Amino acid sequence: PATVVVLASGTGSLLNALLAAAREPGYPAKIVAVGVDRVCQATDHAEAAGIDHFRVAVKDYPDRAAWDHALTDAVAAYEPDLVVSAGFMKIVGPAFLERFGGRFINTHPALLPSFPGAHGVRDALAYGAKVTGCTVHLVDGGVDTGPILAQEAVDVLPDDDEAALHERIKVVERRLLAQVIAAVATRGIVSDGRKAEIPDERAHR
Ligand code: GAR
Repeated sequence: PATVVVLASGTGSLLNALLAAAREPGYPAKIVAVGVDRVCQATDHAEAAGIDHFRVAVKDYPDRAAWDHALTDAVAAYEPDLVVSAGFMKIVGPAFLERFGGRFINTHPALLPSFPGAHGVRDALAYGAKVTGCTVHLVDGGVDTGPILAQEAVDVLPDDDEAALHERIKVVERRLLAQVIAAVATRGIVSDGRKAEIPDERAHR
């Protein structure tokens, strides 16, 4: 199977979904380590699953570039085929992208290019969007600007608050992210820089 390092910062429910998917027989990817940038629950999920984990916190480095190099080295130690940001709330720097560009996948809780950034759900609600969703994309040097691999829509309901809407989006995200990682692990990504596609199953047979 393809080897994957997952980066996370929060409750780690997406990580947990990936760990569950990876336990299914025949799942084509194996999570070899979990990296975090702060003390968070994601570490507990890794620990419970018996998977290596590491923390590289910005505050432990003199500047952002030193943190970027340290994160790059910590991930590179596992020589992963893919790196997945599953609720990792930091923007990686040029060293990380140099090393893992084209195989670093993020999931975002909005339909990009709408509502990028740290508050995708809150911003969609505040705008009055009637439909939002989630986007799985390759990470480039911008904030949630990289080539899109997959998206799914989620309706905004009249009484939604941020927590309720985010939870409905995450239900979709957990499934979509596991599907995309499996597809990429099996069939790879074809990208011209702006657009990216996962070749379809027929083309692969
Ligand atoms: C997910 O909705 C993910 O898309 C989002 O954080 C949540 C993590 O949930 N990421 C971003 O907003 C990145 N800009 P979790 O901690 O329950 O896995």
